[in-house]
Amino acid sequence: MAELVLALDFPDSDSALAMAERVKGRLTWVKVGLELYTATGPGIITALTEMGFKVFVDLKFMDIPNTVRGAVRSAVVAGADMVNVHACGGRRMLMAAREGLSDGAQITGRSPLLFAVTVLTSMDETDLALPEGVTVADVALGYARLAADCGLDGVVCSGHEAAAIKDACGADFMCLTPGIRLAAAGDDQRRVMTPAQAVAAGSDFLVAGRPITDADSPAEATAVFLEQMASVVL
Ligand code: C5P
Repeated sequence: MAELVLALDFPDSDSALAMAERVKGRLTWVKVGLELYTATGPGIITALTEMGFKVFVDLKFMDIPNTVRGAVRSAVVAGADMVNVHACGGRRMLMAAREGLSDGAQITGRSPLLFAVTVLTSMDETDLALPEGVTVADVALGYARLAADCGLDGVVCSGHEAAAIKDACGADFMCLTPGIRLAAAGDDQRRVMTPAQAVAAGSDFLVAGRPITDADSPAEATAVFLEQMASVVL
């Protein structure tokens, strides 16, 4: 059963915690990204775990292996249940990220998940100078194979790539899909899907932010997302 992750993209902890309060009891996962984490630091992760949420720390680490090992360990120690890094950091960095995850898990007794970002869902062919005949989906698939080979739990990808990634990397290799929209939104996302389409394509986690946080009733919008997800017979 796919899970919905609510992106808490807010500039301060009061706004993020108020939104978390409005959807509490309806979903399990929330996401702390660059904006919120940079404003608040790791205390927001603790606050959200204390509210009963599982927290995806979406800081998309990419640096030298030693630095990423430490960053992933620190995120897990702060309470992360899921962490991500950029697949383009390469094999040694991905292995180091896994070591950092294990170190953090040993310290905390948690079993967090580690994902690699393939190609951002805000990007399409026009954002990349790809060689003739190479598509965004090809690049995403290559990064997914690398992440699977390095023992990560899954990748962040668009729903459009999920089926091919599952075929290549196995059904247990998870796909986490942002860019989820109930209808065409005209914002910065490009490779988008509806909740039902993403579940049907095989995504295990769906990430949505603005379609829920900008809604008049975030609780009702969450319910609509969950209903659409549940309506898919796999
Ligand atoms: O508001 P919206 O639904 O577009 O939010 C999507 C969230 O998922 C944002 O927090 C964004 O940073 C994140 N994300 C993404 N694409 C990725 C990885 C994360 O949009 N590849």
